[in-house]
Amino acid sequence: MSLMTSAVRKPLIAGNWKMHLGLAQSVDLAKAVRDGTTGSPAEVAVCVPFTALSVVAEVLKGSHVRLGGQDLYWEAQGAFTGEVSAGQLCDAGATHVIIGHSERRRLFGDTDEAANKKLKAALAAKLIPIVCVGETLDERQSNQTFRVLETQLAGALKGFAPADLPPVVVAYEPVWAIGTGVTATPAQAQEAHLFLRKQAAKLYGEGFAAGLRILYGGSVTAENVDNLMAQPDLDGALVGGASLKAPSFSRIANFQVTAKA
Ligand code: PGA
Repeated sequence: MSLMTSAVRKPLIAGNWKMHLGLAQSVDLAKAVRDGTTGSPAEVAVCVPFTALSVVAEVLKGSHVRLGGQDLYWEAQGAFTGEVSAGQLCDAGATHVIIGHSERRRLFGDTDEAANKKLKAALAAKLIPIVCVGETLDERQSNQTFRVLETQLAGALKGFAPADLPPVVVAYEPVWAIGTGVTATPAQAQEAHLFLRKQAAKLYGEGFAAGLRILYGGSVTAENVDNLMAQPDLDGALVGGASLKAPSFSRIANFQVTAKA
């Protein structure tokens, strides 16, 4: 049992389309997700490539499905070739944004300090930030998982006023589970989520921690979502591969949990 009740936490199921799909395919998938998830118990969002934001926004307008970017830059404007600001994301119709995804960290050098600045910019723009943390396989095998999670969470959440933080969502994404087909077991995920929630309580108090939504990401599928979501400290999922097909993503968004474990 979690120490802190999940009653106040509305689940969030977010798709991360990564660098996939052209505009026509994006529109088709967004329509299918919109129509296939009307019964979802969760807040549903799709995080799409920057180039697809406005066309997908048009499809989702007035619907229950929210739209997110996959990254942002912390400056408001200026000579930052290739970057996209929080204001530009909002302007294109986004309400959510992923921050510090492990692919950004591993392939593009994003640090905890960058995640912290991005988080500040996202919150200032009233975007709902999904801050990703997670250990590599090496780190897990050398018993460093908790140390890594503690460092990444504290780094990203550093220096805020508690009143600024309620919109923040954290995603636990073990790097070894992303895109590999190897999912963390429900017990492994729960252990990490509970640890993160306790760390959040240390940083900003029990009230913040009890309301903090912590998503799991890493090879979530239509087949394993129900067992994962049954864990008391799992408040949703960040879904990569399985978000690219409407039937699997809709099934994930329509997850079925009768009672939390
Ligand atoms: P996956 O990706 O579901 O394809 O493992 C998850 C993610 O990277 O957010």
